[in-house]
Amino acid sequence: MNNRDSDHLIAELREKESYTLTDDPKEADLILLNTCSVREKPERKLFSEIGQFAQMKKPGAKIGVCGCTASHLGEQIIQKAPSVDFVLGARNISKITQVIHQPKAVEVDLDYDDSAYVFSKVQNTDVKALLNISIGCDKQCTYCIVPHTRGKEISIPTPMLLQEATKMAQNGIKELLLLGQNVNHYGTRFSIPHKPTNFTQLLRELSAIEGIERIRFTSPHPLHMDDEFLEEFAQNPKVCKSIHIPLQSGSTKVLRDMKRGYTQEWYLDRIHKLRALVPNVGISTDIIVAFPTESDSDFLETMKVLEEVRFDTLYSFIYSPRPHTQAQHLPNTISREEASARLSALQSRHREILAEKAQKEIGKTHRVLIENYQDRAPEIWSEGRSDTNRLIKIPNQILPMGALVDVQITHNDGGSLSGKLLNA
Ligand code: 5AD
Ligand code: SF4
Repeated sequence: MNNRDSDHLIAELREKESYTLTDDPKEADLILLNTCSVREKPERKLFSEIGQFAQMKKPGAKIGVCGCTASHLGEQIIQKAPSVDFVLGARNISKITQVIHQPKAVEVDLDYDDSAYVFSKVQNTDVKALLNISIGCDKQCTYCIVPHTRGKEISIPTPMLLQEATKMAQNGIKELLLLGQNVNHYGTRFSIPHKPTNFTQLLRELSAIEGIERIRFTSPHPLHMDDEFLEEFAQNPKVCKSIHIPLQSGSTKVLRDMKRGYTQEWYLDRIHKLRALVPNVGISTDIIVAFPTESDSDFLETMKVLEEVRFDTLYSFIYSPRPHTQAQHLPNTISREEASARLSALQSRHREILAEKAQKEIGKTHRVLIENYQDRAPEIWSEGRSDTNRLIKIPNQILPMGALVDVQITHNDGGSLSGKLLNA
């Protein structure tokens, strides 16, 4: 989401204010820090980074702080770091071309409706493009600061999305990544009158666009994965067969304390239903360990789900108390050492599972969208991602970007897969 916001900030500044990008902060007229506040560590780094940029910047250059930390600290950023010229919240990024002209501007209005706003064209030579379908989040997961920083959920009207995706297809984009905090809650609220719709319907409409070959999305919420959605996911040939299904915890008790709205049984039932429909589906997840109410046996429930699902990708974190969340008030009785031990246990078992899974890929055939080629003489290869989101190398081939090719896996080098071309 933040990467996409950065794309939009750059596009607006490039088109409306004639800025160009530089790799050298000493040369920059404007330095933007786009910030995350989901966990505490990146937030702590912000002020030291502002200090470094303030020292190296050329006289007169401006510094702006954007994104979620901007939303939640607002004015305080300028009080603490007077070298900052403006603060622009995650919900307000379309105002970038205004705030650069307003000294000490603080734009963090959470009710601001950015959903009907069309950003300037993101310069993209890629075959893949990101498309925001909703902004904000209506859930109240007790550990999460996002509803506080990005505000209430609003869906972008379908006609705008279809128009944008059609333009992208005409510009050579083959793969769309639909973005939202809770994508499969799409259609619940619009800022303008809109026909009744939902995420499944949106997938159908976007996949009818000629030239769009693949559609991915992130993140769906397990609670809203109804059968109709799973069936569309399974049978729509343009919808890639990889999916992020954030678990957060395997313990029903902790899930309740997190206010996630589902149980371990529901989560596993969705996985089993999905795997019955799409046996080779790639599944990634997010897991938080050491949530304040997580006992040893709750953690073992998470290990049990890991064992049963055998995820293809795992993003795992130690719980980090955040301001403006309900969980910040819970007494935290889990020591730092215990939290780290839980994270290591989870990650090391996941690595073992991955090694076992990678070995089983040998001999399988995948359809790969070519995204890149590498020339590191004497080795050259093309590479791209399978439908199931695995990075696959094709040695000794220079293939055109955007080509869809069949590749049979021949090698597994510590989890990195390579294979031979079956057709072009
Ligand atoms: N502490 C640790 N991890 C968190 N996440 C969200 N809030 C917190 C927090 N307070 C994780 C969740 C979410 C991912 C983007 O970040 O797993 O899915
Ligand atoms: Fe945060 Fe929960 Fe919303 Fe995801 S669904 S952004 S974890 S509140």
